[in-house]
Amino acid sequence: MDHTDDGLREYLNGRVFDGHLESRLRREAPGGEPVLDPSTGTIHFENLRFSRVCLEYALRVTGLYRRGQRNARRLQVREHDLPVAGLTEAMHGYRLLHLSDPHLDVDPHFADGLADQLRGLQWDACVITGDFRYRTNGNAEPALAGIKTVRAALDGPVYAVLGNHDSIRMVPRLEALGIRVLLNEGLVLGRSDGAGVWLAGVDDPHYYRQHDIVRALRGRPDHMPAVLLAHSPEAYRDAAAAGVDAMLCGHTHGGQIRLPGGFPLTTNADCPRHLTSGPWQWRGLKGYTSVGAGASVLDVRYNCPPEVVLHTLTGH
Ligand SMILES: [Fe+2]
Repeated sequence: MDHTDDGLREYLNGRVFDGHLESRLRREAPGGEPVLDPSTGTIHFENLRFSRVCLEYALRVTGLYRRGQRNARRLQVREHDLPVAGLTEAMHGYRLLHLSDPHLDVDPHFADGLADQLRGLQWDACVITGDFRYRTNGNAEPALAGIKTVRAALDGPVYAVLGNHDSIRMVPRLEALGIRVLLNEGLVLGRSDGAGVWLAGVDDPHYYRQHDIVRALRGRPDHMPAVLLAHSPEAYRDAAAAGVDAMLCGHTHGGQIRLPGGFPLTTNADCPRHLTSGPWQWRGLKGYTSVGAGASVLDVRYNCPPEVVLHTLTGH
C-alpha cells in the first residue's frame, strides 16, 4: 500500500474518533482475526481457513462445482422502492444503485463482467456496502484493481462503507478512485437546500464493531431524513434507536448457498432471519439487505443469485 500507517493517521486526521484507527489496525494484523470471538461469542466463519478446502472438495465430489460457478456469474439487477419517512417531494424518485460484497479478489475475471453489467444503468448515486475484498488481511491490490475497473463503469458519485473483509488502509486508495468512504460520517445527498437526504455510513458492525451511528448522524440538518449504509444488518437495533429512517446493508450473501426452496445454510449474522436478505422492517426502521454481487469462500452460489439493486426513494 502507498500509505504508511503514519500517513494513514494523517490522512484520516479528524475523521475517526480517538482509538478507532489504532483498534482497527490491531485487529487487522495477521492472526488477529479469531474464528470464535470470545468477547461476543460470535463465530466468524470467514476466518475458518480450511472451510474453503472442505467446501470445494465436497462440491467437486458431488459434481456441483461448475454449476455453482455459472450461478455466481448470473447477476440480477433488482428494482426496489425504498420508503423513507419524511422524504421531500423533490427527492421522490431519486435512485440509488446499491452494490454489496463484490469480493473482487475471489475471481480475477469477475470485475470485468460486473463492470459490463453496471454500465448504462440509470441512477443518481451509487452506494457500496462493503467487502470489496475476500482476504481478511494482507494484499489488497487484487481487490483494488477490481474496484478500479468497476468504478470506471460508474458514471456518477459513489459512496461506500467498509466491510469485515476490508482494511482501513484501503481508504485513501478507494477515495483516490472517487469512492467516498464514510467512516462514521455523513453528508447531504441530492439537494443542499434542506430538501435532500442525509447519507450516513458506518464502519463494519460485524467483526470490527467500530460502527458509531450517532456520530454518523452529526451535522444532519433538522428534519432531514437519514439513510444509513452499514456493512451488516446486525446494526439494526442501533440504527432504529438512533432514529435512522432507512438502512442499506449486505454481508450475509443471503446465505450464498441455499437449499432448494430458498433456505440458507448460514447467514453469518447475529440478527433475526428476516433481516438477512431483501426488504425488511424492524419497528419503524425500513431496510434492505442485499444478497451481494460476489461470492466468498468459493465463487459459487446455489438458489441465491447475485444482485445489484436499484432503490427508488419513495415517501411513506
Ligand atoms: Fe462481510
